[in-house]
Amino acid sequence: MSKRVRKAVFPAGGLGTRFLPATKVIPKEMLALVDKPIIQYGVEEAIASGIEHIIIVTGRGKGAMEDHFDISYELDATLEKKGKKELLELSRNISSLARISYVRQKEPLGLGHAVLCAKDLVGDEPFAVLLPDDVIDAQVPCIKQMIDVFNEKGGSVLATMTIEGAAISAYGVLAGSQDSANPRIYNCTGMVEKPKLEDAPSKQAIIGRYVLTPAVFELLERTTPGAGGEIQLTDGILALLKHEKVFGYTFEGKRFDAGDKFGMLQATVEFALKRNDLGPKFRDYLKGLAL
Ligand code: UTP
Repeated sequence: MSKRVRKAVFPAGGLGTRFLPATKVIPKEMLALVDKPIIQYGVEEAIASGIEHIIIVTGRGKGAMEDHFDISYELDATLEKKGKKELLELSRNISSLARISYVRQKEPLGLGHAVLCAKDLVGDEPFAVLLPDDVIDAQVPCIKQMIDVFNEKGGSVLATMTIEGAAISAYGVLAGSQDSANPRIYNCTGMVEKPKLEDAPSKQAIIGRYVLTPAVFELLERTTPGAGGEIQLTDGILALLKHEKVFGYTFEGKRFDAGDKFGMLQATVEFALKRNDLGPKFRDYLKGLAL
């Protein structure tokens, strides 16, 4: 078994109901954040973290993702003919980003089920999971930070962020104690799904980045559908906790929930402001709004 984290799974089989009507036909993962589909941010993060093989779990109506990461002969030929070199490079670069495989989740039976669909492609080695909705702006890519913790600690790692107050009830929340040497690391003892503020075991909300050991597959296979009739990844990780150490890690950076309308608006404003080509103009525009 390779001990190195070489593969990353992108569960993208969900229905994206929070973003209807935009997601009726267009996969949520293909919605543009400024000028790039949200899944491309995650794919670029994974590649910048040393991942060699991307596995995208797709579903019905998700074909646009495969086309996006493929070569587009017609587009490339037209751009070449028109001498649009920069755009041609942009288009070609996408198709040469990484080795990408696709596996189909026949029914959206939950995040845990989506991850399980990637079992054969992952095999017997540790792997990363990136939820494409979660777009993370960080100096060191979030999944790279987590792979470093995995290599140091030798156990699965869940990304968390600190949430103050009642907003914690929208998340899965980590239970556990802080590592004495590194306050960003937690020794996980459990997880509680969407607790009331008074029941929350910590302020550490679990977000969409994981590094997992392959033992989780067998446990997911044995997991019966939980909340909402879905096979939950959380249940698989809770089962894993009985056999192996699992760690929480408060990543450095800022996470946006781009699968949610408000989160997408926040990400759009912040990412656009950071762009050299758009930022100054956009800043002036925002300043001129009578807010
Ligand atoms: P979400 O619950 O955020 O996504 O799942 P969703 O179900 O697509 O969206 P809403 O809530 O209806 O708006 C988190 C991630 O897990 C994937 C989703 O594609 C998303 O990336 N997922 C979820 C699957 O791949 N399969 C599933 O059965 C469920």
